[in-house]
Amino acid sequence: MDLDRITQRRGTDSFKWDDTERLFGRSDLMPFWVADMDFETPKPILDAIRQRCRHSILGYGIRSQEYYQAITDWLRIRHDWVVPVEWLMFCPPSSIVGIHGLVTGLTDAGSSILLHTPIYGPLMNIVRDNDRHLIECALVEQGGKFGIDADATVSQLREDTQMIMLCNPHNPTGRVFSSTELMSVVQLAEERDLLLVSDEVHCDLVMPGQRHIPLGKIAGERSITVISPNKAFNTAGLPQATLIIPDAAIRRKFASYLDTMQLNHDSTFGAVGMIAAYTKCSEWLDQVILYVSENHRFVATWLEMNLPVVRKATADATYLAWLDFRATGLNEEELSKRLVEIGGVGLYPGSIFGAAGTGFFRMNLACPRSQLEKGLQGIRTALVKV
Ligand SMILES: Cc1ncc(COP(=O)(O)O)c(C=O)c1O
Repeated sequence: MDLDRITQRRGTDSFKWDDTERLFGRSDLMPFWVADMDFETPKPILDAIRQRCRHSILGYGIRSQEYYQAITDWLRIRHDWVVPVEWLMFCPPSSIVGIHGLVTGLTDAGSSILLHTPIYGPLMNIVRDNDRHLIECALVEQGGKFGIDADATVSQLREDTQMIMLCNPHNPTGRVFSSTELMSVVQLAEERDLLLVSDEVHCDLVMPGQRHIPLGKIAGERSITVISPNKAFNTAGLPQATLIIPDAAIRRKFASYLDTMQLNHDSTFGAVGMIAAYTKCSEWLDQVILYVSENHRFVATWLEMNLPVVRKATADATYLAWLDFRATGLNEEELSKRLVEIGGVGLYPGSIFGAAGTGFFRMNLACPRSQLEKGLQGIRTALVKV
């Protein structure tokens, strides 16, 4: 497997590559925005889909023994978490739809939900757009890493808060929260009787030397942990999401959401892809993690040497770089304009991750290094040329 090799994606109806005219006003933009990878999806996944196509009917499916086993084995082997099969629930279209079901099914309209920001925008939207009050609790930066401020979390809770929603590993900052940070949230949830939802779709992309702690492993009955092969195995187009729900009453409520929305059947290829990912792609993933961790190092060093006004947060996980542009003195609108029009690069502006993201941009590093270097040069050109 050659991760340096460029695979042409333009002209394949790729959201990242073929929708830039609509979103950024330029069809030739170098895209570093949406979170999918420019590496080929692992061959065992593609082979499993080809194999499934040898049977000529693609009707409704059921979940096989192999389906459940793939998930429980993956969690045990990769994350040292033994999960009983009955805790597993699914949301075939996507993890975000599953989280929508948790928010609308488990909390009351008019209540509040706390999130640590900056954070993946759709998580905030689910809260705001469904008549819940969003509490944005800003992460604090210490030594180039972002972390949970336990005191701020306590002080921002309201009487009507019913849930804390975590994103761990954290999009966009790339933090893997420590057991101390997680325990502070778990204890708070116990004291205040709050539900804890943890979006862990980036949990398999943890950099060497780091260890992800699944929330469900330490928070028990009040937790709901959401995982998906989508990010780690580059299968965003093959929907599959798993929710790990230890509490039977919460499972019943979530089941009723799934029934109402008719969300009980997996995508045939989503199921096939997930099984192949979790059973046959560990080595592929290990290589991608090494390559991405080198990309993180490459970007940090490149910026230090060539563009020190932009600082990169240290990432424990994910292929996302959280870049601090505040020292440029330019506002987000001006920066966005320059990045697109002068630099020819598409990055996500930080404010879409909440007010705490203002002054930052998120750059997706899951691409061949030569492409990444061109992107960095584009950023420098955008800032140097006036
Ligand atoms: C933290 C986080 N959660 C969820 C998603 C979306 O996952 P899905 O397509 O399964 O809804 C993303 C995609 O970037 C993400 O970064």
